[in-house]
Amino acid sequence: MPKRYTVTAALPYANGPVHIGHLAGAYLPADIYARWLRSKGKDVAFVCGTDEHGVPITIKARREGIAPQEVVDRYFEIIKKSFEDFGISFDVFSRTSKPIHHTTSSDFFKTLYDKGVFTESETEQYFDEQEQQFLADRYITGTCPKCNFDKAYGDQCEKCGSTLSPDELINPVSAISGQIPILRKTKNWYLPLDSIQSEFLNDFIQSKTNWKSNVMGQCKSWLKEGLQPRAMTRDLDWGVKVPVESAINKVLYVWFDAPIGYISATKERYPDTWEKYWKDPETELVHFIGKDNIVFHCIIFPAMLHAHGGYIMPTNVPANEFLNLEGNKISTSRNHAIWLNEYLVDFPGRMDELRYVLNSIAPETKDADFTWKDFQARVNNELCSILGNFVNRVLVLSHKYFGGRVQNYDLNNPLDLELLAEVQAIQNNIDKLVSEFKFREAQFELMAIARAGNKYITDQEPWHLIKTDEKRVGEILHTCLVLTHAFAVSAIPFLPFTSQKLFHFLNVNADSTIKGGALLNQPELLFQKIEDAQIEAQLEKLKIQASANQIQSPTDTVKTIDPIKENISFDDFAKMDIRVATIMAAEKVEKADKLLKLTLATGLDTRTVVSGIALDFKPEEIIGKQVCLLANLEPRKLRGIESQGMILMSEDENGKLVFISPASLALNGATVR
Ligand code: MF3
Ligand code: ZN
Repeated sequence: MPKRYTVTAALPYANGPVHIGHLAGAYLPADIYARWLRSKGKDVAFVCGTDEHGVPITIKARREGIAPQEVVDRYFEIIKKSFEDFGISFDVFSRTSKPIHHTTSSDFFKTLYDKGVFTESETEQYFDEQEQQFLADRYITGTCPKCNFDKAYGDQCEKCGSTLSPDELINPVSAISGQIPILRKTKNWYLPLDSIQSEFLNDFIQSKTNWKSNVMGQCKSWLKEGLQPRAMTRDLDWGVKVPVESAINKVLYVWFDAPIGYISATKERYPDTWEKYWKDPETELVHFIGKDNIVFHCIIFPAMLHAHGGYIMPTNVPANEFLNLEGNKISTSRNHAIWLNEYLVDFPGRMDELRYVLNSIAPETKDADFTWKDFQARVNNELCSILGNFVNRVLVLSHKYFGGRVQNYDLNNPLDLELLAEVQAIQNNIDKLVSEFKFREAQFELMAIARAGNKYITDQEPWHLIKTDEKRVGEILHTCLVLTHAFAVSAIPFLPFTSQKLFHFLNVNADSTIKGGALLNQPELLFQKIEDAQIEAQLEKLKIQASANQIQSPTDTVKTIDPIKENISFDDFAKMDIRVATIMAAEKVEKADKLLKLTLATGLDTRTVVSGIALDFKPEEIIGKQVCLLANLEPRKLRGIESQGMILMSEDENGKLVFISPASLALNGATVR
């Protein structure tokens, strides 16, 4: 009996379109795997859908003055279309706002509730009296206890990166009303991850010997820390209602309902047979996700499935690391991203080019970087020059010499046999690599088929041979066609659109073979070169996106821009004596985390300035730097050191300090005006 596979890809939040980081992180590898399994004749359910609950969606809706349902309706369509466009071959793409999902997740909760799995606990949560609602962690802002940043969220400080809980915030404020929230008691239901850990999770994780090391590393560190009970219900009105009578205005925690979305989607698609995909031990369950989802898929969801009983456990969770863009983190809020829907406007029809490049640099073991220059180089030097060039030569020559007719040949030339044996070995290797989730390497091997073909036809020189030995040319081209067909078959998971084109040119499908006497179709160019101007336009677009975004200054950017202060006279300005100076020495100030003691050469004297930049700069990295110094600021003592002036600093988009320095070398002591 053939093995069955349930392949899931993380349900994207329906609060924005999807970008290349999403594609490279989860959807492309999942699609490669699902297509490969199908090509091997396996029974596969490849499921996904949008994750439509959770606080960020309610925040977005509130900000735009619309209902959460309108937000998710909009993005569901956009996301679904992007995936279809890129050939992500889901068997079902559902949404967690569908009734089938509400029923499924609600029933799941009820089963755990009735089994007495949950512990109930009453805690004090922040409550906004004006809005009459409990405040989710993200809805509370205040001062970070660790770094004093004054716009930290109740769950995290985006300046110093610390994970917080709302009660740690200094001066908490409701982000909805701006009022000071009060603490009010509320009851929620907790999944006792601590006891599930000792009873099940430790052994479960321990038994996974073939999981990726980045995934195992995270799991082990969670388990080592010791898991805590986690609330599976929230005081919120957007989500799946908690199916317990006493629960008023409570919904399931989004990370409780979302993974059950995989099950609901399977049910929706296969109403009669869905259970075999989730309950039959013969089925392998594989979750494709990004690294930020590891704990939910490797620990919490298995704990839920275990507590429920009757479900299979994930066989593997091949999580990827992150993809950066032009050296910086992809950021939705700062609009530093390549959105899939926009890519296709600029590069219509060129889905496989992006699939190819993203898989070439897939962040399988470490973070990776997408750059437009590299995209251009890979498309031009690999897809065009190797694959496109080879296919084009084979087909054009076949038409030119033989009117597109495949010549009869039973493949007995040792040279040709050797080549085809090499191709077969490569194909076997591709299968092995894909089965180990090494898609990047597998694709590299795939291109080895094209490279071998290219070399073969160059060595054989049929264009010379045609004058003396037409029969041999027919054989050579026949061999090349067999190789092209093999390439097309192995390329199905990686380059599905290209594969289809190749089958069309060859006039055969994946299951049949090249036969003497058959007629080929007319070829077209497989790939076009990417021009420099196209790349420059994309780089320009990234810049424009980022600056347009600064003007809008969405409230979720980390750094907020101060309003302009009231006018001053020119004389007020002229009172400030700002000079160029060079940092000659720098050292930490004892017992003061933030302070550095700097020695500055001002061109007029050497002086000491104590500066609050130690969190962002190490002493050794700033020595020799030219800076601007407010030189006539009244000296004052900081930690017993007299500070004679102030260095001018600003901040980048993440709130990190940056020096205000001359753009090119200036004269120490020169006045800034
Ligand atoms: N929406 C989540 C994210 O984008 C992923 C949810 S995966 C699921 O990070 F398993 F919960 F569905
Ligand atoms: Zn902080």
